[in-house]
Amino acid sequence: MFGRVKSLDAILATAEKKSLHRSLGPVQLTLLGVGAIIGTGIFVLTAAAAQKAGPGMMWSFVIAGFVCAVAALCYSELASMVPVSGSAYTYTYAVVGEMLAWTVGWALILEYAVAASAVSVGWSGYFMGLVKSWTGFELPLALQSGPVWSMQGMLPHADFSVGLINVPAIGVALAVTWLLMIGTKESAQFNAVLVGIKILALTMFLALTLPAINGTHFAPFAPNGWFGPAGTTGMGIVGAASSIFFAYVGFDAVSTAAEETKNPQRNVPIGLIGSLAICTVFYLLVAAGAVGAMGAQPTALGVEPGSAEFTAQCAAMAAQGNSPLVCSNEALAHVLRSINYSWAGDLIGLAANLALPSVILMMMFGQTRIFFVMARDGLLPEKLATVHPKWKTPHIVTLVTGIFVAIAAALLPVGQLADISNSGTLFAFFMVAVAVMILRLRDPGRARPFRTPLIWAVGPVAALGCVFLYWNLPYGAKMVLPIWGAIGLAVYYAYGFRKSHVGRGIVEVHEDDPDAPQQPVAPLPGGIDLD
Ligand code: ALA
Repeated sequence: MFGRVKSLDAILATAEKKSLHRSLGPVQLTLLGVGAIIGTGIFVLTAAAAQKAGPGMMWSFVIAGFVCAVAALCYSELASMVPVSGSAYTYTYAVVGEMLAWTVGWALILEYAVAASAVSVGWSGYFMGLVKSWTGFELPLALQSGPVWSMQGMLPHADFSVGLINVPAIGVALAVTWLLMIGTKESAQFNAVLVGIKILALTMFLALTLPAINGTHFAPFAPNGWFGPAGTTGMGIVGAASSIFFAYVGFDAVSTAAEETKNPQRNVPIGLIGSLAICTVFYLLVAAGAVGAMGAQPTALGVEPGSAEFTAQCAAMAAQGNSPLVCSNEALAHVLRSINYSWAGDLIGLAANLALPSVILMMMFGQTRIFFVMARDGLLPEKLATVHPKWKTPHIVTLVTGIFVAIAAALLPVGQLADISNSGTLFAFFMVAVAVMILRLRDPGRARPFRTPLIWAVGPVAALGCVFLYWNLPYGAKMVLPIWGAIGLAVYYAYGFRKSHVGRGIVEVHEDDPDAPQQPVAPLPGGIDLD
């Protein structure tokens, strides 16, 4: 089962051929991380976290940030050793073999594509809020949100009475798909501008909300306790941590830039921990400002955000002219409007509208990269890896990804998408933590540009932290992972197992990034084939 291991030397030969210019320093890396991290999580999911944990969500941000930090340290060791496309998928291929690598790649679809859907839905909420504030126009509810989902026994059930389809989310997902197909990539300068916009927006939020904090809004501090009332899943401070984990996802962008980094041993951990630390501080303060200024105002205790019951409670309150934080689709703008800073609400809405598409772009780019590498390994149809002659992008895989992202964004609420994405991400991070430890034992002498400090403490804590957060996701999101995994294994045995290049004994050294055209190159000595 673990026999088909991809040769680490072949992977490293691929990496060497890339030999990108090492230009990134600690500041650029940190900016890269902050650019990929800050998004729908803080701008939108703060509302869901408030419903789950009340003011105690501040602890949720700390717990999720801690698990990300230890996972990030493990991630960096592999990223610096194996600096090639495909992130966790490639690492596990080299360490624990093809079958588990396939399941990781399959889970990364949840991480990247579903996260892109979640951010699209988050963008949609802010977009509609801004349009309403500026023009008074409101799209019918049925066209600005998907149906409400619930589990009936083992099966999901959709209620179309409240929402039908999220049209703006489809629009932004397809627009980003188009940009990626024609070869748009974010430059470091553009990223820096967007990071600046996000930081300014959050700073403005803090400047206006922190002075407006009312101490009484912090009581009761944890209305749903640590784990939620009996009979619920994914509630309480820990449940909120499992969901808000989404707000930190994206730091892997830093590790995947390891090969473009000057002195990665020093700078990659600075970039990772630096960007996580900056975001954690901002997130904590924003959570305090939001709850302190407006109050968390959870609806009935133990009711899961996004559920049918929750939606009905929010509708009933809206009918009475009461719109609490927990019901808002544009949490931070809503807080500012509620304390009479409508202009600032609009400004933060504008910042979210400008900055969130770049998070969607990064997530979709990551997804296409992983599909591309899997197709190149023969585990997915190779046609998917075709590079467009003019645009020089893997256009087919990008289009397929974009359609998938748009459909999920059209039909699911942001909180559930984020939870589903988290289940895949946590699995991938778990595998990375395990892979780092296995590789330390199996191949201790190999050069490691970055070594995880205290690996025998950090590794197990990262792996267990991922299991802990996964376990505290809502039931529906938790079930997605095994079901998705079972489908993935069926696909693997029906297709990839037979077609795999490693399985067929083909050892390859690839030339480049997915978005560069494949050039025929002369064979290397030693019988390694190049394609
Ligand atoms: N961390 C990213 C966000 O919150 C995925 O949007």
